[in-house]
Amino acid sequence: MADRSSPKVVRTVNDLRALVSAWREVRTSVGLVTTMGALHRGHAALIDEARNRAGRVLVSVFVNPAQFGPNEDFAAYPRDEAKDLAELAAAGVDAVYAPSVDEMYPPGFATSVVVAGPALGLETDFRPQFFTGVATVVAKLLNSALPDCAIFGEKDYQQLLVVGRMVADLNIPVDIIAHPTVREADGLALSSRNAYLSPEDRKTAPKLFAVLNDAALSIRGQVSAVDVMIAGDRALTGLGFRVDYFVVRNSETLAAVVDPGSEPMRVLAAAWLGKTRLIDNVAV
Ligand code: PAF
Repeated sequence: MADRSSPKVVRTVNDLRALVSAWREVRTSVGLVTTMGALHRGHAALIDEARNRAGRVLVSVFVNPAQFGPNEDFAAYPRDEAKDLAELAAAGVDAVYAPSVDEMYPPGFATSVVVAGPALGLETDFRPQFFTGVATVVAKLLNSALPDCAIFGEKDYQQLLVVGRMVADLNIPVDIIAHPTVREADGLALSSRNAYLSPEDRKTAPKLFAVLNDAALSIRGQVSAVDVMIAGDRALTGLGFRVDYFVVRNSETLAAVVDPGSEPMRVLAAAWLGKTRLIDNVAV
């Protein structure tokens, strides 16, 4: 990324609203990219997409405690604000919203956004608090910034559908834009948590994408969804993954596939290598 001038950093909802109002006064559209920091090329691609669609690009950086379970990596989640801000300057971002936990969840905070539909099952079976935490923080970020569009990566495919459902159901006036997963040359989907992989596990990790692609090919070749799911689970287990789920679902609702001949489908998986949980998905 080229070096550019530093983005304005705001830390309170009031300052964020004042900044966005000033942009609005000169009729500038706003694109939002929500992040938890630990930025990588995947985030840079979302930022580029926002820049192509809007006059100003706002990036939020907030490690959201509400979406972590008690035994998850909230405390250990990689945080380096100075590095993130340097990356965001290089990416030509206009402003960064980096609130404290108290600004986001002040004492007395008592409201949650609970999404059903696409939030049911898959990630929720293993991380029951996750989508309530995500939906709540994303609703707050959208309501605070009121952007014209917000860009979400397809890597977190269930999250993308959950956010889309919530925005539609709550009439939040924003276009949710899906951006294709950005991958390493060997196919591994970029994720801040890839940093946790041991060198040995890093070599195995791209095989998740390979097995997902094999599954998509089998489905296109008329193999039944159930057989594909069993084969995918077995293949990953044989490669040393501990599989949380390997499923073929309707790509619009994430419901079980009823008529493979006429439904849009997606293969989704979550699996562990050592202490690192990887998720990925491919279109059929
Ligand atoms: O995908 C993420 O990084 C987070 O879940 C999000 C959308 C920023 C909410 O905290």
